[in-house]
Amino acid sequence: MTQDELKALVGQAALAHVVPGSIVGVGTGSTVNCFIDALATMKDQIQGAVSSSVKSTERLQAHGIKVFEASEVESLPVYVDGADEIDHSGCMIKGGGAALTREKIVADLAQAFVCIADESKLVQTLGNFPLPVEVIPMAAAQVARRFASAYGGQATVRAGVVTDNGNIIVDVRGLKITDPLAMETEVNQWPGVVSVGIFARHAAQVCLLGTPSGVRTLS
Ligand code: 5RP
Repeated sequence: MTQDELKALVGQAALAHVVPGSIVGVGTGSTVNCFIDALATMKDQIQGAVSSSVKSTERLQAHGIKVFEASEVESLPVYVDGADEIDHSGCMIKGGGAALTREKIVADLAQAFVCIADESKLVQTLGNFPLPVEVIPMAAAQVARRFASAYGGQATVRAGVVTDNGNIIVDVRGLKITDPLAMETEVNQWPGVVSVGIFARHAAQVCLLGTPSGVRTLS
Protein backbone atom coordinates (compact mmCIF):
# COMPACT_ATOMS: atom_id res chain seq x y z
CA MET A 1 0.00 0.00 0.00
CA THR A 2 1.14 3.54 -0.66
CA GLN A 3 1.51 6.10 2.11
CA ASP A 4 -1.57 7.90 0.75
CA GLU A 5 -3.59 4.67 0.96
CA LEU A 6 -2.46 4.19 4.57
CA LYS A 7 -3.56 7.76 5.37
CA ALA A 8 -6.95 7.13 3.77
CA LEU A 9 -7.30 3.93 5.81
CA VAL A 10 -6.77 5.66 9.17
CA GLY A 11 -8.84 8.67 8.12
CA GLN A 12 -11.75 6.32 7.57
CA ALA A 13 -11.05 4.32 10.76
CA ALA A 14 -11.22 7.49 12.87
CA LEU A 15 -14.94 7.79 12.09
CA ALA A 16 -15.55 5.08 14.68
CA HIS A 17 -14.35 7.54 17.35
CA VAL A 18 -16.68 10.36 16.31
CA VAL A 19 -19.54 10.76 18.77
CA PRO A 20 -22.87 11.18 16.91
CA GLY A 21 -24.58 14.48 17.69
CA SER A 22 -21.34 16.11 18.86
CA ILE A 23 -18.93 18.75 17.61
CA VAL A 24 -15.66 17.18 16.44
CA GLY A 25 -12.20 18.67 16.93
CA VAL A 26 -10.30 18.55 13.64
CA GLY A 27 -6.55 18.87 13.18
CA THR A 28 -4.45 19.76 10.16
CA GLY A 29 -2.41 17.95 7.50
CA SER A 30 -2.62 15.45 4.70
CA THR A 31 -3.81 12.61 6.97
CA VAL A 32 -6.47 14.84 8.49
CA ASN A 33 -7.58 15.79 4.98
CA CYS A 34 -8.46 12.10 4.50
CA PHE A 35 -10.37 12.21 7.80
CA ILE A 36 -12.28 15.33 6.74
CA ASP A 37 -13.26 13.67 3.45
CA ALA A 38 -14.46 10.61 5.38
CA LEU A 39 -16.27 12.81 7.92
CA ALA A 40 -18.29 14.31 5.08
CA THR A 41 -20.03 10.96 4.70
CA MET A 42 -21.53 11.36 8.18
CA LYS A 43 -21.96 15.13 8.24
CA ASP A 44 -25.68 14.83 8.95
CA GLN A 45 -24.87 12.91 12.16
CA ILE A 46 -22.68 15.63 13.74
CA GLN A 47 -23.31 19.24 14.74
CA GLY A 48 -20.09 20.33 13.10
CA ALA A 49 -16.41 20.82 13.82
CA VAL A 50 -13.89 23.07 15.53
CA SER A 51 -10.92 23.46 13.21
CA SER A 52 -7.22 23.98 13.95
CA SER A 53 -6.28 25.87 10.76
CA VAL A 54 -7.55 27.97 7.90
CA LYS A 55 -6.80 25.07 5.51
CA SER A 56 -8.87 22.57 7.48
CA THR A 57 -11.68 25.11 7.88
CA GLU A 58 -11.82 25.60 4.11
CA ARG A 59 -11.92 21.85 3.48
CA LEU A 60 -14.62 21.28 6.10
CA GLN A 61 -16.76 24.09 4.71
CA ALA A 62 -16.29 22.84 1.14
CA HIS A 63 -17.92 19.61 2.32
CA GLY A 64 -20.78 21.56 3.91
CA ILE A 65 -19.65 20.82 7.48
CA LYS A 66 -20.39 23.67 9.89
CA VAL A 67 -17.29 25.11 11.56
CA PHE A 68 -17.61 26.54 15.06
CA GLU A 69 -15.16 28.96 16.67
CA ALA A 70 -13.15 27.42 19.51
CA SER A 71 -14.60 30.11 21.78
CA GLU A 72 -18.12 28.82 21.07
CA VAL A 73 -17.54 25.44 22.73
CA GLU A 74 -16.61 24.43 26.26
CA SER A 75 -15.65 20.88 25.54
CA LEU A 76 -15.28 18.40 22.71
CA PRO A 77 -15.51 14.62 23.16
CA VAL A 78 -12.84 13.93 20.55
CA TYR A 79 -10.02 15.68 18.70
CA VAL A 80 -8.64 13.91 15.62
CA ASP A 81 -5.23 14.93 14.29
CA GLY A 82 -2.07 13.59 12.67
CA ALA A 83 1.50 13.70 13.94
CA ASP A 84 5.02 14.03 12.60
CA GLU A 85 6.25 11.53 15.19
CA ILE A 86 4.52 9.59 17.95
CA ASP A 87 6.13 7.44 20.63
CA HIS A 88 4.70 4.42 22.41
CA SER A 89 3.29 6.53 25.24
CA GLY A 90 1.33 8.76 22.82
CA CYS A 91 3.66 11.78 23.07
CA MET A 92 4.06 13.50 19.72
CA ILE A 93 5.99 15.98 17.66
CA LYS A 94 3.56 18.12 15.66
CA GLY A 95 3.72 21.29 13.62
CA GLY A 96 5.13 20.07 10.32
CA GLY A 97 2.19 21.94 8.80
CA ALA A 98 2.83 24.99 11.02
CA ALA A 99 -0.55 24.68 12.77
CA LEU A 100 0.75 23.52 16.17
CA THR A 101 -0.57 26.37 18.32
CA ARG A 102 -4.17 26.12 17.16
CA GLU A 103 -3.86 22.32 17.25
CA LYS A 104 -2.88 22.50 20.91
CA ILE A 105 -5.73 24.91 21.66
CA VAL A 106 -8.32 22.59 20.11
CA ALA A 107 -6.71 19.51 21.67
CA ASP A 108 -7.00 21.25 25.05
CA LEU A 109 -10.78 21.44 24.60
CA ALA A 110 -11.05 17.73 23.92
CA GLN A 111 -11.57 14.84 26.29
CA ALA A 112 -9.67 12.47 23.99
CA PHE A 113 -6.96 12.94 21.37
CA VAL A 114 -7.18 10.38 18.56
CA CYS A 115 -3.98 10.42 16.52
CA ILE A 116 -4.10 9.13 12.95
CA ALA A 117 -0.85 8.33 11.18
CA ASP A 118 0.86 5.91 8.88
CA GLU A 119 3.21 3.53 10.66
CA SER A 120 6.33 5.44 9.61
CA LYS A 121 5.46 8.03 12.29
CA LEU A 122 5.89 5.61 15.21
CA VAL A 123 9.30 6.05 16.90
CA GLN A 124 11.09 4.87 20.03
CA THR A 125 12.34 8.35 20.94
CA LEU A 126 11.08 11.69 19.62
CA GLY A 127 13.50 14.06 17.91
CA ASN A 128 14.55 12.73 14.55
CA PHE A 129 11.88 14.95 12.96
CA PRO A 130 12.97 18.61 13.38
CA LEU A 131 10.98 20.04 16.29
CA PRO A 132 8.71 22.92 15.15
CA VAL A 133 8.34 25.87 17.51
CA GLU A 134 6.05 28.83 16.84
CA VAL A 135 7.92 31.97 17.84
CA ILE A 136 7.27 35.71 17.87
CA PRO A 137 9.75 36.93 15.22
CA MET A 138 11.88 39.21 17.44
CA ALA A 139 12.64 36.25 19.76
CA ALA A 140 13.91 33.85 17.07
CA ALA A 141 17.65 34.38 17.58
CA GLN A 142 17.43 34.13 21.37
CA VAL A 143 15.26 31.00 21.18
CA ALA A 144 17.85 29.46 18.83
CA ARG A 145 20.65 30.24 21.31
CA ARG A 146 18.64 28.70 24.14
CA PHE A 147 18.09 25.47 22.19
CA ALA A 148 21.82 25.27 21.47
CA SER A 149 22.89 25.80 25.06
CA ALA A 150 20.15 23.81 26.81
CA TYR A 151 19.78 20.85 24.45
CA GLY A 152 22.49 21.05 21.79
CA GLY A 153 19.83 21.63 19.13
CA GLN A 154 20.28 23.66 15.95
CA ALA A 155 17.33 25.93 15.22
CA THR A 156 16.62 27.44 11.82
CA VAL A 157 13.77 29.68 10.74
CA ARG A 158 11.40 27.91 8.32
CA ALA A 159 11.70 29.94 5.13
CA GLY A 160 8.62 31.63 3.73
CA VAL A 161 6.23 30.45 6.44
CA VAL A 162 3.95 32.72 8.45
CA THR A 163 1.52 30.94 10.76
CA ASP A 164 -2.23 31.55 10.88
CA ASN A 165 -1.38 33.65 13.97
CA GLY A 166 1.13 35.88 12.14
CA ASN A 167 4.25 34.34 13.69
CA ILE A 168 7.21 32.32 12.38
CA ILE A 169 8.30 28.71 12.85
CA VAL A 170 11.76 27.61 13.90
CA ASP A 171 12.66 23.96 13.29
CA VAL A 172 15.14 22.44 15.73
CA ARG A 173 17.40 19.60 14.59
CA GLY A 174 19.69 17.36 16.56
CA LEU A 175 17.41 16.74 19.54
CA LYS A 176 16.90 13.48 21.40
CA ILE A 177 13.72 14.05 23.40
CA THR A 178 13.97 11.49 26.19
CA ASP A 179 11.64 13.42 28.53
CA PRO A 180 9.00 15.09 26.33
CA LEU A 181 6.98 16.49 29.24
CA ALA A 182 10.02 18.19 30.80
CA MET A 183 11.15 19.71 27.51
CA GLU A 184 7.64 20.91 26.63
CA THR A 185 7.32 22.54 30.06
CA GLU A 186 10.74 24.20 29.88
CA VAL A 187 10.57 25.51 26.30
CA ASN A 188 7.05 26.88 26.75
CA GLN A 189 8.45 29.24 29.40
CA TRP A 190 11.03 30.88 27.15
CA PRO A 191 10.03 34.44 26.26
CA GLY A 192 8.76 34.69 22.71
CA VAL A 193 7.81 31.02 22.38
CA VAL A 194 4.14 30.83 21.45
CA SER A 195 4.08 27.03 21.53
CA VAL A 196 6.45 24.16 21.12
CA GLY A 197 5.47 21.23 18.93
CA ILE A 198 5.89 18.65 21.70
CA PHE A 199 2.49 17.24 22.66
CA ALA A 200 3.12 15.51 25.98
CA ARG A 201 0.62 17.38 28.13
CA HIS A 202 -1.82 16.68 25.32
CA ALA A 203 -0.60 13.23 24.37
CA ALA A 204 -2.81 10.95 22.28
CA GLN A 205 -5.06 8.55 24.20
CA VAL A 206 -5.55 6.48 21.05
CA CYS A 207 -3.34 6.15 17.99
CA LEU A 208 -4.65 4.59 14.80
CA LEU A 209 -1.63 3.51 12.80
CA GLY A 210 -1.96 2.58 9.15
CA THR A 211 -0.03 -0.57 8.24
CA PRO A 212 -0.09 -2.74 5.12
CA SER A 213 -2.02 -5.36 7.10
CA GLY A 214 -4.63 -2.88 8.35
CA VAL A 215 -5.16 -0.41 11.17
CA ARG A 216 -3.12 -1.05 14.31
CA THR A 217 -4.54 0.62 17.42
CA LEU A 218 -2.24 1.83 20.21
CA SER A 219 -3.90 3.00 23.41
C1 5RP B 1 0.38 20.14 11.25
C2 5RP B 1 0.64 18.86 11.95
C3 5RP B 1 0.31 17.59 11.23
O1 5RP B 1 -0.56 16.85 12.02
C4 5RP B 1 1.55 16.81 10.99
O2 5RP B 1 2.47 17.66 10.31
C5 5RP B 1 1.29 15.55 10.18
O3 5RP B 1 0.91 15.90 8.90
P1 5RP B 1 0.65 14.83 7.76
O4 5RP B 1 -0.61 14.12 8.14
O5 5RP B 1 0.52 15.65 6.51
O6 5RP B 1 1.84 13.91 7.72
O7 5RP B 1 1.08 18.81 13.06
O8 5RP B 1 0.83 21.23 11.98
